Amino acid sequence: MGVAMTSPAPKTYHVKNFGCQMNVYDGDRMAELLGAEGMVPATDPAVADVVVLNTCHIREKAAEKVYSDIGRLKRDDGSRPVIAVAGCVAQAEGAEIARRAPTVDVVVGPQAYHRLPEMLGAVAAGKRAIDLDMPLDSKFGALPKRAGGQRPSAFLTVQEGCDKFCTYCVVPYTRGAEISRPFAELIAEAQALVEAGAREITLLGQNVNAWNGEDERGRSVGLDGLIRALAAVDGLARIRYTTSHPNDMTDGLIAAHGEVAKLMPFLHLPVQSGSDRILKAMNRSHTTDSYLRLLERVRAARPDIALSGDFIVGFPGESEADFEATLNIVDAVRYAQAYSFKYSRRPGTPAATMDDQIADAVMDERLQRLQAAINRHQHDFNLASVGRRTQILLERHGKRDGQLLGKTPWLQSAHVIAPGLAIGDMIDVTLTEAGPNSLTAELLQTQDA
Ligand code: 5AD
Ligand code: SF4
Repeated sequence: MGVAMTSPAPKTYHVKNFGCQMNVYDGDRMAELLGAEGMVPATDPAVADVVVLNTCHIREKAAEKVYSDIGRLKRDDGSRPVIAVAGCVAQAEGAEIARRAPTVDVVVGPQAYHRLPEMLGAVAAGKRAIDLDMPLDSKFGALPKRAGGQRPSAFLTVQEGCDKFCTYCVVPYTRGAEISRPFAELIAEAQALVEAGAREITLLGQNVNAWNGEDERGRSVGLDGLIRALAAVDGLARIRYTTSHPNDMTDGLIAAHGEVAKLMPFLHLPVQSGSDRILKAMNRSHTTDSYLRLLERVRAARPDIALSGDFIVGFPGESEADFEATLNIVDAVRYAQAYSFKYSRRPGTPAATMDDQIADAVMDERLQRLQAAINRHQHDFNLASVGRRTQILLERHGKRDGQLLGKTPWLQSAHVIAPGLAIGDMIDVTLTEAGPNSLTAELLQTQDA
């Protein structure tokens, strides 16, 4: 590149994330990668030179959404930014996107985004760049060190991909086979995140509890070994992990919940359905009974643990009785929170061609009933927290003067009036009031913050 007498304004980028926390992590890494190239962030896609759409393919109409987003990037004067489509829609439908949307310059899958700067270079030279490789050499080694200014609660992808092949799910096809990132690389990245301002790290993976590796002494360890090592990182106050599969919930990981103080009392463990017949058709490889027994062991290790889950209503063949079994398991577990979705027919998955697909109106009605049950338990869990003395990690400013919002150990949102305190502070509070979605906290007077 030639040296200009007056340097041009740096190019700007905007990364728009859809979907799961793993996309948030990938979006951050792409942003940092572009930052390392001298580009600066633009908060508004309408003025950015480069827009990255980091897409999600897990449910309905993902691809249509991408096309309409691409259309909206056209500006009044007829110009448009350089458009990159990344994420799981890119992986699943990249060739089709490139064919149908000539304004897309870059299509890059979740395992190849470390090549983004190179690809943008190709675009500057007048080419289109498409990379849907799932290379064996990991992208992580090619990414720059974590940038400064991290959020107090940061994500760290430790595991990617899925070998479980639930019959409704696209993840095994879009994210590929299960891989675990090496232990030493993860400890180093966690240290870098803490140096850059993180106080809490959530370990991410589609099957995070399937993570395995070798520790610094060459011993085989599971996720609990990694968590124990991370607990020794100075300045890191809290550790979380998500999402777990019931079959990978080892004794060691359960024990860690009772033994590692920095590991937060929260477990997201999707069950998907309360009907064994449906679980079998979903290829979940656990039963409601094995799931409930597992949770009993988790609760024995950590009695106050907050449990979370995912549910799908309207899987092909789901009868009213199957659905009622799902309501029963919600009542049996008393989730602190949970996500629920209408079944979405994903092309290429086994369930998409199963008989007895459920009508949308039936799914709507079931989803409402399920969400009402989940909300009731969430509210009860919040009410039961009132009076607890605990800590919250402040993550953002609230709407009112001096109000800050943070998370309790049980991942509840709590707001507190705390003038003089800052985002990133961990404060001692009493939880004083509970609503369905959040709690009110009061600062303890003994504060030395
Ligand atoms: N339809 C509806 N929900 C789905 N999920 C995954 N695939 C589908 C689908 N085809 C849900 C599951 C999973 C969560 C991330 O998304 O509940 O746990
Ligand atoms: Fe999808 Fe099942 Fe793998 Fe989760 S475990 S990512 S639902 S295939």
